[in-house]
Amino acid sequence: MKDLITIAMPKGRIFEEAADLLRQAGYELPPEFEDSRKLIIDVEEERFRFILAKPMDVPTYVEHGVADLGIAGKDVMLEEERDVYELLDLQISKCYLAVAGLPGTRMNDVAPKIATKYPNVAARYFREQGEQVEIIKLNGSIELAPLIGLSDRIVDIVSTGRTLVENGLVEYERIVDITSRLIVNPVSYRMKDERINELVERLTSVMQEGVKLR
Ligand code: PRP
Repeated sequence: MKDLITIAMPKGRIFEEAADLLRQAGYELPPEFEDSRKLIIDVEEERFRFILAKPMDVPTYVEHGVADLGIAGKDVMLEEERDVYELLDLQISKCYLAVAGLPGTRMNDVAPKIATKYPNVAARYFREQGEQVEIIKLNGSIELAPLIGLSDRIVDIVSTGRTLVENGLVEYERIVDITSRLIVNPVSYRMKDERINELVERLTSVMQEGVKLR
């Protein structure tokens, strides 16, 4: 395909909102787009190739240039610190990173344990607070950790807050607000600036009108 643009999309909960946004920007994506198990989806009419990656891996594909563009949460960008440009705050998938734990508990005085999927963000945060902590990296179900005594606190995403409530946990500190970003490989941005800028303009005008979420 000539002038092909490859976009790394995050599989999982951001995916539908991101696909919705592209449709609202006037791009024709096939109806089965969201239900497919394919990891590479070509949309020839739009000269787009989508690759479906784990959210945490999206900046890696973009940094290495195998994807020109990507949609990644700010949480992932802060954790991964990849050599990519952030083009646009897409204002979708709003949530925040917070410190949480069991109610009414103090952190251990000596090297309290913090369980998280975001070891770099958590380490940086506690260093800035002047607190020495031990980070325990987990890959999911982070809320389990304080419930079974693996950690004193967790650093994790809060969206609706349901997971915390249903597991009897409370929020102690809010670290940073998160939304999804459109990111670009610096070389792709130079080589394919016309098509990329068109996409940015179309997405910007959708956001100015207010993104309609389902
Ligand atoms: C995320 C996050 C929390 C939950 C927050 O987990 O890690 O566990 O969502 O959402 P809520 O505030 O709306 O309850 P995810 O479902 O992505 O799965 P994970 O446990 O694999 O991280």
